[in-house]
Amino acid sequence: MATILDGKKLAQTLQAEIAADVSRFVEKHKVRPGLAAVLVGDDQGSQVYVRNKRKACQQAGMDSWLHQLPVTTSQPELLALVAELNADPAVHGILVQLPLPRQIDEAAVVRAVSPLKDVDGFGPESLGLLTSGHPRFLPCTPLGVQQLLVRNGIDIEGRHVVIVGRSNIVGKPLALILMQKAPAANATVTVCHSRSRGLHEITRQGDIIVVAIGQARFLKANMIRPGAVVVDVGINRVDGKLIGDVDFDDVEAVASAITPVPGGVGPMTITMLLHNTLQAAQIHATTASA
Ligand code: GUN
Repeated sequence: MATILDGKKLAQTLQAEIAADVSRFVEKHKVRPGLAAVLVGDDQGSQVYVRNKRKACQQAGMDSWLHQLPVTTSQPELLALVAELNADPAVHGILVQLPLPRQIDEAAVVRAVSPLKDVDGFGPESLGLLTSGHPRFLPCTPLGVQQLLVRNGIDIEGRHVVIVGRSNIVGKPLALILMQKAPAANATVTVCHSRSRGLHEITRQGDIIVVAIGQARFLKANMIRPGAVVVDVGINRVDGKLIGDVDFDDVEAVASAITPVPGGVGPMTITMLLHNTLQAAQIHATTASA
C-alpha cells in the first residue's frame, strides 16, 4: 500500500503560511496583494477553477477581481482589458484562464500580460528566465508538484523523474524546474508523450513518475517500477466524476507513494498562484520604492 500524498491538507498548511506572509506584507507596505482573474466564455470547469482561485486569494487576505467576458469577445477586446490591468497599480498579478475561445490567439494574449504580473508563469520572459536558470514566476502546477514532493520528504536530487506529457502548462515547465541546478531539483529528467515509442520501458525507469497526458487511468501498475513515486496531474471528467491520468487502484498496490485525484495536485496549483501573487506584490513594492 502506497503512502497517499495529501495535497489538500498540505495546501491548507501552505495557505496558512502564505496568509501570515500576506499580513506581514500589508503591515509593511499598507497595500494588499491583488490578483485580477479574467474568464472568457462560460466553460463550467474554468468557472469552478477561477472561483476556487479567487476564494483562496480572499482567504489569504489578498484582493481579487473577476473580469468575466462573453464567449464572443474579440481578441482586440481581450487585449484591451489586459492592457488596462497591466497599467493598474492595484493589480499585482493577472490570470487569464485557459483555454480561450477559438477566435482568440492564446499565445498573443499570454505574451500581452506584463512580465512582472505574469503569475501563471506562461509568458516568454518567465519561461526564458526559468530556462536560463534565473527563475522569476514558476508555472503554478509544476511548482505545486515540486512542493508536494519536497514537503512530503521525497528526495528529488539525482533521481530519475519521468514526465509523461509535454504541455506548456505542465510537462515542459516541470522538466525545466526539476532539472535546474538548485536545491529540491537537480533531477535527471526524461519527458515522454503520446508519440513516444516504448513508453512502458521509459516509465519503468522512473524513480518518480509524473503523469499529465490528459487520458483517464492511462498509467497502469505494469508501467512502473515497484516502489516508484507517482504524481497524477490529470483531471478527466468521466460519468460526472473526476478521474486522474493514473489508474489509482491498480498503481497504488505497486507505488511507494501516490497522489489522489481530487485532493492531490489540484489544491497545490491554487496555493502556488497565491505564492506567485504575493511574490508579484513584493516585486512591485521593491521596484516602486527603489
Ligand atoms: N487552465 C488550466 N490550468 C491553468 C492554469 O494553471 N492557469 C490558467 N490561466 N489557465 C489554466
